[in-house]
Amino acid sequence: MKLLVVGGGGREHAIIKKLKENPQVDTIYALPGNGGIAADAVCVPEIGAKDIAKIVEFARAHAIDFAVVAPDDPLALGCVDRLHEVGIPCFGPEAKAARIEASKVFSKNLMKKYGIPTARYEVFSDADKAMAYLRGCEFPIVIKADGLALGKGVLIPTNYDEAAAAIKSIMEDKAFGDSGNEVVIEEFLTGPEVSVLAFTDGTAIAPMISSMDHKRAGDGDTGLNTGGMGTIAPNPYYTEDVAKACMEEIFLPTLAAMRQEGCPFKGCLYFGLMITKNGPKVIEYNCRFGDPETQVVLPLLETDLLTIMQAVENETLSSVDVKWSSEAAACVILASGGYPGSYEKGKEMTFPEAYPDNVVCYHAGDKLKDGRLVTNGGRVLGITATAPTLKQALADAYAAADTISFDGKYMRHDIGRRALAVI
Ligand code: AMP
Ligand code: GLY
Repeated sequence: MKLLVVGGGGREHAIIKKLKENPQVDTIYALPGNGGIAADAVCVPEIGAKDIAKIVEFARAHAIDFAVVAPDDPLALGCVDRLHEVGIPCFGPEAKAARIEASKVFSKNLMKKYGIPTARYEVFSDADKAMAYLRGCEFPIVIKADGLALGKGVLIPTNYDEAAAAIKSIMEDKAFGDSGNEVVIEEFLTGPEVSVLAFTDGTAIAPMISSMDHKRAGDGDTGLNTGGMGTIAPNPYYTEDVAKACMEEIFLPTLAAMRQEGCPFKGCLYFGLMITKNGPKVIEYNCRFGDPETQVVLPLLETDLLTIMQAVENETLSSVDVKWSSEAAACVILASGGYPGSYEKGKEMTFPEAYPDNVVCYHAGDKLKDGRLVTNGGRVLGITATAPTLKQALADAYAAADTISFDGKYMRHDIGRRALAVI
């Protein structure tokens, strides 16, 4: 079989490595892929993940049997819709369903209409009205740009002046472009955060192993927000009771709501949850696999990934027994010094001859230059280890991370520390 994966980060590398385990898979094309992914797939750097017309043309020309669209942008732009139009089966939601991530106004209104627990909120399309509303609010408060904003569209001001500045920057100065035409202003919730990714064909759902992201750049959850500096799985806050409540109050009602709205969700639905004193609440939905959650979740998957993805597309997920390892996994991100601010690219990298059997190096932001790998992004590599305990997985991931070097290499040294404290 010939497969196509749209995207070129660590998440896509983890998806590709897992898909390759199926002996029926002959070739995987990655559009655009990256330097490290080139060891596992045929990369096409000329075609970016947002070049929908070129992706579709490529898929037709190469008689692709199955496509996986991983990032949010092409999903929101209708990449799956266009591939379906030319008869190519895909994993991923169509644009209408991708709105669950692409529009926060859509997802908040959906939750309100169907009684799905989330933070209380108001929507504004007028900056003056938003500022007037903020005068009567308690702080901190959460302000979210409606559209996709590279994970930067959430601001948590602690007083009125900061909040007014945030409204000005999003709605008047258009810091996130048209994504800021509308804003959601919502209640600040507290509690541990849990990420749950789930396979769903619109009706049946198979939640994956829960995970915990570490979004801040610095140790002790300090510094700027990033795309994610490391992950662990399973997340110890996601107890059996919490999982049961999530299934009944959040997961199944969300799928039913999407069907009711005429946009059943097929693909990987990501639930960003906060476990509050009043039970689990939805912080955000993503219409795709999380990055770097995927790098700890998929290594624990025991069932063939392609079989699951095809069942999602064929709406037969209930007939697949999706099995998970009982081990733990940890992923440590190696980033370019300066990330998420400005950083240099093109640094030569050196790797060990081989990794221990329980360690995988996922390539997130590198490229080949004269046959050698050089850094080419903020998040460069994700080192994942699996082991019977989280403590061992973390020790092994960090030991492997130390065997890789490049100029300016930066990582957090406390991934998993909070999770270990509650195990
Ligand atoms: P997002 O970009 O939507 O993933 O949000 C980034 C982060 O902002 C989340 O991971 C939370 O830590 C925080 N956040 C978002 N909404 C809220 C909320 N209502 N209360 C508290 N924190 C929030
Ligand atoms: N790690 C968070 C995300 O993928 O959005």
